Amino acid sequence: MAQIIDGKKIAAQIKDELKEQVAKLKEQGQNVCLAVIQVGNNPASTVYVGNKKKACAYVGIESLAYELPEETTEQELLDLVQELNDRPDVNGILVQLPLPAHIDEDKVIRTISPDKDVDGFHPESVGRLSIGQKGYVSCTPAGIIQLLKRSGIEIDGKECVIIGRSNIVGKPMGMLLLRENGTVTICHSHTPDLRSVAKRADILVVAIGKAKFVDASYVKEGAAVIDVGMDRDENGKLCGDVDFDSVKEVAGAITPVPGGVGPMTIAMLMANCVASVMED
Ligand code: GUN
Repeated sequence: MAQIIDGKKIAAQIKDELKEQVAKLKEQGQNVCLAVIQVGNNPASTVYVGNKKKACAYVGIESLAYELPEETTEQELLDLVQELNDRPDVNGILVQLPLPAHIDEDKVIRTISPDKDVDGFHPESVGRLSIGQKGYVSCTPAGIIQLLKRSGIEIDGKECVIIGRSNIVGKPMGMLLLRENGTVTICHSHTPDLRSVAKRADILVVAIGKAKFVDASYVKEGAAVIDVGMDRDENGKLCGDVDFDSVKEVAGAITPVPGGVGPMTIAMLMANCVASVMED
């Protein structure tokens, strides 16, 4: 049976390491401060934002919470982002997505200073990642690299297959695995014979948002399988894009849902906040 990659434990280790770094920075008179903006009250966003604030408190990062009403105008939000860009005491800015339909998300992301873009969503951050320059990296794929490295899974020279091409996970995941010298294939809904492409993978990252889509027939014996999905099964139970019970019998390593990739996203957000101070 596969090694179960414990994302909760690895995320806790990372947060403990960051807590020590933040304490040292404080001794040197350096505070770390993240501004978190939520517009409206999407229930999932409220949970995510709550978890981010909790993680900040644990690590010792100050969080400034802006809970704006649903009817906030685009200009009001852009003005707030600009004000936070200009504040030297604010190191990172996070605007929780999705935004209400009347606000242009791309415009808001482009307004965040790339120096404070701890989500790694700004086109400059994405561009830097693709040409191998230093910059903020989207938290979920950055967390997956940490999961692999801290579980002793070699990336260099390995066949890496990603299912899903989103801007937040699939594309930056490809860039990061390439940076680690993996051989990368990104698959999507137009890929013919997805199963046989997936079966080539030593490292298979699944981020398509379809409950239990990948079963054992997609997985090479001994492969590391990383499940980014957060879905509900036929009984309404939380599950991933991977059929855990069948895949764990063929994989060499596998992440569970919950408790795999999820906790890593917030740990890496905290890491980006700490880095925002280091790189000043
Ligand atoms: N909504 C869902 N995931 C994320 C995330 O990682 N960052 C932001 N800003 N919004 C999200």
